[in-house]
Amino acid sequence: MNHDLDLLHPYPFEKLAALKASITPPNDLAHIALSIGEPKHEPPAFVLRTLSENLNRLANYPATKGLPELREAIAHWANHRFQLCTPLDAETQVLPVNGTREALFAFAQAVVDRSQHNPLVVSPNPFYQIYEGAALLAGAKPHFLNCTASNGFIPDFDAIDAQVWRDCQLLYICTPGNPTGAVISTEQFQTLIKLADQYDFVIASDECYSELYRDEKNPPPGLLQAASDMGRNDYARCVVFHSLSKRSNLPGLRSGFVAGDATILQKFLTYRTYHGCAMPVPSQIASVAAWNDEDHVLANRDAYRTKFDAVLNILDDCLDVTMPEAGFYLWPKLPISGEMFAQRLFAEENITVLPGAYLSRECDGVNPGEHYVRMALVATEDECVEAAHRIRRFVSRL
Ligand SMILES: Cc1ncc(COP(=O)(O)O)c(C=O)c1O
Repeated sequence: MNHDLDLLHPYPFEKLAALKASITPPNDLAHIALSIGEPKHEPPAFVLRTLSENLNRLANYPATKGLPELREAIAHWANHRFQLCTPLDAETQVLPVNGTREALFAFAQAVVDRSQHNPLVVSPNPFYQIYEGAALLAGAKPHFLNCTASNGFIPDFDAIDAQVWRDCQLLYICTPGNPTGAVISTEQFQTLIKLADQYDFVIASDECYSELYRDEKNPPPGLLQAASDMGRNDYARCVVFHSLSKRSNLPGLRSGFVAGDATILQKFLTYRTYHGCAMPVPSQIASVAAWNDEDHVLANRDAYRTKFDAVLNILDDCLDVTMPEAGFYLWPKLPISGEMFAQRLFAEENITVLPGAYLSRECDGVNPGEHYVRMALVATEDECVEAAHRIRRFVSRL
């Protein structure tokens, strides 16, 4: 077997199950899970209808490159959403993927050149664990950049050692961030693009939470938008990852896309053709319907906004927590370790949250997730409000 498999860390939810295993929570309180980042709002009915109306298309093998109408719908959406000066070419600069998870993983396998000395895959810390596994199985070393309250949860990219950038082949960024909700600014993107040119690396921008923002007048910028604003019309070295999972509450559809640098995407398409990960045709047609509609996305954002307001009203003065610019997580700073907080909250209030350290690694002598937990506000507003009241009661006892 491939020895690199032994390098993979247990997934955060395995660690969480072990943490909870010996605890019996109070049985007079219904369990509330704030641990899993799975959207729970209703998926749009018209997308489900489109999917079921096209099931007969399962009779066809799908092409890895996807249907032209799906690539067109995606390009149209991205051009409009990110106000791209040079519109994306649906033929060469867009590829559908079966959710961003598989694409983020596969991308490192296609990009990393393991024949180079000390190949690094750089990513934020805390981070989505796929980045690390992708790096390890591509034969690269993960290198983490701490995201802490003191840097606004976005690393100071200019301050990173030049040797790290020299060895870096692939940089993952996640904006809006999971778990912090922090949003990378256009200026920060442009700093990264200049660094990528100077040191010759590829930027993979995971933007799968980009549509869950709080301020309707201030949507998070994207990497392609920052590139376009610099007049970089070929989006060289830049690839973005988007998903219908969070935007449209369709995590089970497994539908997303990558877009950007045509040269990179052409190689990635070759990789994917062998990998065998074409999206079923009914899912592609349903995805066209989803990307073409913004009303359901607006309604989704409204629902999160109301829910975040209600929960933060209750938690504001008892926890060190702020309204995230985007995403569906709270990332409160705690007076005790995240593990202890999670364990006791489950034992005393039957609420599951994820210890922050399960999403991060110790780096430069610090584990930036240690005194945090991640709370996913995905359940109904009533359930989240009930959870907030119980958390408030719990914190008052600490
Ligand atoms: C940061 C981040 N990226 C990517 C994904 C994968 O999402 P999907 O594969 O559903 O598009 C997730 C899922 O939770 C995530 O949190």
